[in-house]
Amino acid sequence: MNIAVYPGSFDPLTNGHLDIIERSVHIFDKVILAIATDNNKDSMFTIEERISMINEALENYETVEVEVFEGLLVRYAKKKGASALIRGLRAVSDFEYEFQMSLMNRKLEPAVETVFLMTSAENTFISSSLIKQVASLQGDIHGLVPQVVEEAMLRKYKGD
Ligand code: PNS
Repeated sequence: MNIAVYPGSFDPLTNGHLDIIERSVHIFDKVILAIATDNNKDSMFTIEERISMINEALENYETVEVEVFEGLLVRYAKKKGASALIRGLRAVSDFEYEFQMSLMNRKLEPAVETVFLMTSAENTFISSSLIKQVASLQGDIHGLVPQVVEEAMLRKYKGD
């Protein structure tokens, strides 16, 4: 079985992530969406909130599993029997960081290959951090995130 790990913070899941998942399921038998716990970032959503929203947004994807991991990504991927790590590429600005990470991951674990997938053009400008900024300033994020995420963000910023 061809297994891939799609790692990230997913704080929150965006339509850009969904775009990458949609592409991944056509290539791999199983895709594990792996939420990093110790990413040293100030997160907006707890891990539990993220899992719940992701599960709802992905309910129609039978070959995608949602998990949480801590520690080294390649170690986790190897334990899961994955042959690939999936990363989405949006624009040139992503390249340097992704290039560095993929080479480090290869050095740590040569058997796990990083596969870069490009989002469709209409999703290239979407990032979790921009979504948070726009939503915090009461900007419209409709169509940029799954509905469950949009509703959760509206609730957060209304203080419910
Ligand atoms: O969505 P993000 O925040 O860009 O994802 C980054 C992530 C989670 C893939 C990266 O921080 C990671 O792999 N963290 C796990 C720790 C690790 O293995 N670090 C070495 C990477 S070269």
